[in-house]
Amino acid sequence: MKRARETTAQAVDTVVVLDYGSQYTQLIARRVRELGAYSVLLPGDATAARIASHAPKAIVLSGGPNSVHAEGAPSVPKGFFEYVEERKIPVLGICYGMQLLVHALGGVVESGGVAEYGRMPVVYQTNGSALYGGKSQMGEKEQVWMSHGDEATKLPAGFACVGKSEGGAVVAVEDAARNLYGLQYHPEVTHSEKGLDTLKRFLFDIAGVKAEWSMANVLEEQIEIVKNAVGPDAHVICALSGGVDSAVAATLVHKAIGDRLHCVFVDNGLLRFREQERVMEMFKDHLHLPVDCVDHSQQMLTRLAGVTDPEKKRKIIGGEFIECFKNFKGEIEKRTGVRPTFLVQGTLYPDVIESCPPPGSDQKHSHTIKSHHNVGGLPKELGFELVEPLRMLFKDEVRKLGAIMDVPRTFLARHPFPGPGLGVRILGDVTKDNALDILRRVDEVYINTIREFGIYDEIWQAFAVFLPIKSVGVQGDQRSHSHVVALRAITSSDGMTADWYPFTVDFLKTVSTRITNTVKEVNRVCYDVTSKPPATVEWE
Ligand code: XMP
Repeated sequence: MKRARETTAQAVDTVVVLDYGSQYTQLIARRVRELGAYSVLLPGDATAARIASHAPKAIVLSGGPNSVHAEGAPSVPKGFFEYVEERKIPVLGICYGMQLLVHALGGVVESGGVAEYGRMPVVYQTNGSALYGGKSQMGEKEQVWMSHGDEATKLPAGFACVGKSEGGAVVAVEDAARNLYGLQYHPEVTHSEKGLDTLKRFLFDIAGVKAEWSMANVLEEQIEIVKNAVGPDAHVICALSGGVDSAVAATLVHKAIGDRLHCVFVDNGLLRFREQERVMEMFKDHLHLPVDCVDHSQQMLTRLAGVTDPEKKRKIIGGEFIECFKNFKGEIEKRTGVRPTFLVQGTLYPDVIESCPPPGSDQKHSHTIKSHHNVGGLPKELGFELVEPLRMLFKDEVRKLGAIMDVPRTFLARHPFPGPGLGVRILGDVTKDNALDILRRVDEVYINTIREFGIYDEIWQAFAVFLPIKSVGVQGDQRSHSHVVALRAITSSDGMTADWYPFTVDFLKTVSTRITNTVKEVNRVCYDVTSKPPATVEWE
């Protein structure tokens, strides 16, 4: 599939963040955007030419798990210092990034000293440093989130130490003449109390970046981009999942090209309780988007009957979806006399960036981990050009964009729901034991209770799972041999890693009682207390 056009905010100041593998790298990019500046995340081994193609006003070198002395440790690209010096681009190295600066410019970074991790004060070493501001005083302290094993013991010529840890390690450095700065701690995490102020000073005072990145600008710009890419006559189709991303992408494209956008919502028979009605109502009444609903449930469930292997199930579900999609394309051609040539997808920035993989994962770039999840895997031979208006946005930005287009909040805050739906939440044959109906009712009680306790927004995703076993119980003074369900709730920032949500005992008691009282076919409720890794979010 061809891509309609790279969608970047060409007009606003850009901050490039080079990724050296820290778990916080994405957070740096997001913080920069929260502060109102556009950020782009590139792999640490990006060439100087690739960096230059973004014309950055400032560059941040991220942290990372390596020591600069390790064999094959990543470094700045060839010609990097010449490039930033010639263009007068300020550079801030964070943690590993600071050590890279020190090491590459002729200072000394030593291993084997005392490591310092966690919350601790940094003590200013000068008055009025650039990093800590004109009013900062020598001896003043601020709490930061420290992270160092190696230590800079000799600074390159021109650098001054402006902050030390309690243990006496050099943790903040600057060479104002060359516009090079380094912090041995994480200003981007909330544990660093004034970290955002330091980041702000670097971006706005030192680098002179203009805070022009706003969702209103993005909306305007993306509408123009879509209009230009699609042109005046072409027709576009979009599969709505009922999730935030596809709904926001479709709403934006509809603003750009009106009724040449054709949306389809496929009921694959694996949706949640009353999902089809709810989603269709929402598109019609709130978003005023014309949507065709294709009911494919009968055919899907016939194909899935007797299938227990998780991968086989996923393949069948994906294959049937493609079938529906092809039919829809033909239907639109019949209806309008024009063959649709563009496809809207709600791809987000985390799916696009080539961030560094977790150490030891044997992968070059981490986005390959979840390629199987994405966008239903529509095959190339469908011959569409892609329209991806959210390609440069993080999830929280998509929500903001949706809000300025009046997408209702209840919809924007919805938990993610996977394409294969309840098919990956019923272990084994989805057509056996009335599992779909039972799971739908359990899930509805679970989610409603979460909402009632006011904790829905604290949770990244919550759902129930139907287990292919029965257990013995007593219900109404009688022995029962009934179904077991598991509840899952996680916190996460992107679904790549996750922690289980610590419900209160009161919540667990309430929800378990409600489920077994209202869904008679269930006599046992378990709570999944596994993080990802080692588990995944979905059970299949
Ligand atoms: P896992 O189970 O891989 O899930 O830890 C991570 C996140 O991805 C969602 N997920 C999917 N989303 N199609 C989707 O659109 C899929 O096939 C799929 N499988 C998992 C899952 O719900 C979680 O948010």
